[in-house]
Amino acid sequence: MNSINIVHNNKIFLIFQFFLQTIMARGPKKHMKRITAPKSWMLSKLGGNWTTRPSQGPHKLRESIPLSVILQHKLKYALYAREVQTILADKDGNIKVDGKVRSDFGYPVGLQDVITIDKTRESYRVLYDVQGKFILKSIKPDEAKFKLVKVTQKKVGPNNVPYIVTSDARTIRYPNPDIHVNDTLKIDLETGKVVDFLKEEPGNLCYIIGGNNIGRVGLIQHRERHLGSFDIVHVKDSNGKHFSTRINNIFTIGKGKKSLISLPDDNGLYLTALEKKQAREHQEETKKQ
Ligand SMILES: *[C@@H]1O[C@H](CO)[C@@H](O)[C@H](O)[C@H]1NC(C)=O
Ligand SMILES: *[C@@H]1O[C@H](CO)[C@@H](O)[C@H](O)[C@H]1NC(C)=O
Repeated sequence: MNSINIVHNNKIFLIFQFFLQTIMARGPKKHMKRITAPKSWMLSKLGGNWTTRPSQGPHKLRESIPLSVILQHKLKYALYAREVQTILADKDGNIKVDGKVRSDFGYPVGLQDVITIDKTRESYRVLYDVQGKFILKSIKPDEAKFKLVKVTQKKVGPNNVPYIVTSDARTIRYPNPDIHVNDTLKIDLETGKVVDFLKEEPGNLCYIIGGNNIGRVGLIQHRERHLGSFDIVHVKDSNGKHFSTRINNIFTIGKGKKSLISLPDDNGLYLTALEKKQAREHQEETKKQ
């Protein structure tokens, strides 16, 4: 009886504590426990219990990674949160995302965003690898001038102005009428203009941005219609492996076989444990010869 009471009291205490914290907290939460940070951030288990919570922005919480986490853990520029703050707060504007200076610690960076560090003349594109982790692909200055986005909506606004909305929350008025929902746009980051577009259709190269096959790259084969449910798209990678995924996971990245962007080091090719071992052995053998 007693022990039940203690447990019960404990609960009340916890609720009370939570209540206190809620009223005492000022403004939105700035941090999140590392344990609850999305798996795709791939933080190491060491080095503190707290990480930055992404601010509100163009990407959803689960699909983005805070700028500070990128600087601290992915690029290894800064060892401590305070150093990241110094880098970001610099008057010269050290860090650009999609060509705009960002100094917010928690600025949410997402898939396909381009990070530029002028001082070191480095640029990166944010992508997923085949494990579904965010990676920063180092890119040449030429490639850092554009990004790829997916069209999420196509509408007609007031005064009959047609417009499209993109996956990174851009609104583009008077788009080329051949551009449809789910197509990919190549956006010039300096002007914000659409310089090219890619159709989501068979024969084009695509990148998988969700589901079990995340990070894989292959040619779109065909689309299977499922009334009242997600359509399924069949894809074949350059190793000849077939897989299928829901249509919402498809992101076209090329006309035909050629990708417009540099791919992660895994080339979007998923290898089983056995295949990885064989590839390693093959590499060692060729080294010996
Ligand atoms: C993280 O949390 C654990 C358990 O709550 C605690 O023992 C540890 O000291 C904390 N580490 C840091 C760096 O705060
Ligand atoms: C675009 O993708 C969505 C899923 O994200 C799908 O339901 C829709 O049918 C697609 N539209 C076109 C025109 O292919």
